[in-house]
Amino acid sequence: MTTARGAHGKLWGGRFREPTNAFVERFTASIHYDRRLFREDIRASSVHCRMLARQGIIPREDALKILEGLEQIKGELEAGTMTFRTALEDIHMHVEHRLTELIGPVAGKLHTARSRNDQVATDLRLYLRGEVDEMIQAILAVQHSLLDLAGHHVETILPGFTHLQNAQPVRLAHHLLAYFEMFGRDRERLVGLRPRLNQLPLGSAALAGTPFPVDREWVARELGFDGVCRNSMDAVSDRDFVLELAFAGSVIMGHLSRFSEELILWSSSTFGFIELPDAFCTGSSIMPQKKNPDVPELVRGKSGRVTGHLMALLMMMKGLPLAYNRDMQEDKEPIFDVVDTVTGSLRLFADLIPGLQIRKDKMAAAAAAGFTTATDLADYLVRKGVPFREAHEITGRIVRICVEEQQTLATLPLATMKQVDGRIEEDVHAVLQVEASVNARRSPGGTAFVEVQKALRTAFETLEK
Ligand code: ARG
Repeated sequence: MTTARGAHGKLWGGRFREPTNAFVERFTASIHYDRRLFREDIRASSVHCRMLARQGIIPREDALKILEGLEQIKGELEAGTMTFRTALEDIHMHVEHRLTELIGPVAGKLHTARSRNDQVATDLRLYLRGEVDEMIQAILAVQHSLLDLAGHHVETILPGFTHLQNAQPVRLAHHLLAYFEMFGRDRERLVGLRPRLNQLPLGSAALAGTPFPVDREWVARELGFDGVCRNSMDAVSDRDFVLELAFAGSVIMGHLSRFSEELILWSSSTFGFIELPDAFCTGSSIMPQKKNPDVPELVRGKSGRVTGHLMALLMMMKGLPLAYNRDMQEDKEPIFDVVDTVTGSLRLFADLIPGLQIRKDKMAAAAAAGFTTATDLADYLVRKGVPFREAHEITGRIVRICVEEQQTLATLPLATMKQVDGRIEEDVHAVLQVEASVNARRSPGGTAFVEVQKALRTAFETLEK
């Protein structure tokens, strides 16, 4: 018997003599993950159906039946009453199959001038567009949290590090605003990729276009796309938007991971710079004193997973001939995990940052340790006319004396310094204070009070835009 479902209960069963091997059915199915595209699938199908009727490609009354059926299916999917079957492969087949059950053979008209190839590309772009917008909001929330904390800690000074060795003192606000910058670029990257992602594949059909008089521009407008994909073969086989998003997500996770690493170090009893909010930590089942920084640790760990997905996607695409290939079904699990992980991590950080307790005294003590004002001593000599290289050498010798005599630059007697270089005078002591060192760095983008105030204002402005 010939039905719309073909010889073996498949929507494509017509040319097949044997039923699908049961394991192949499971192996090729994507319904267990692509079902999350159902809203986009139904939305795009509805607009496609209306376009077919507007263009006189299918009769209006058929279109109305299809639209009603699609609405009902959306309700069933939202209510969770639809039963999923691997035999029906993916979300597109499930919707079409259910539509046939509801309205009969007229359901088969929906797939006119369309293929699953342009359908899945359209659904994925629609879905990821929504995810990109959420991710942008989540980054904004992190930036707000950072800026708020920074605003309270202009006067808090901690050591800045290079090679994780105490280098020069900086304001905590300055340190936090460094992350504000990173997340600002992350946001720009998403805003930048959005218009490339937001192009309509539908109307490209399987790969070569369609003989029916479709109105792609109308469909694009109805679905909120910025434009239509220009080449039908590219439209069904391009996944650059997935790669770009996976890359942008990897960079975000990299930033969160660096921040995590600092929170982990800073909250250790050895550093003691901060205390993490209880609600974001867990204890140890054996060591009663422990409060572990699980959230930053997991975010740091998950950054590896996200970058792994980027690699998987790049490799999956690289050898594919035009146009659609089934390999591309493998785009969904990684990119879904990327968006879940990145947005989830960002949201956690937006909530964690306001709960951080800052131990100003610990930071201040550490800021003075490790000869962090040595550069200031060298700069002082430079202002007395000593070439910087020589000033560096002189300062190095003074630091060595401090180490040998267990002194700091601030406590070393002037007489001892003068023995190393006679040009050092009484006024050197003002220069060696941590506060003075910080405020001396007035170059644009530096850690001086005036500069940090300026940076805070600029940061507020970027968020208000
Ligand atoms: N489940 C498929 C995917 O995710 C849908 C497209 C299938 N197209 C095809 N010609 N088999 O890529």
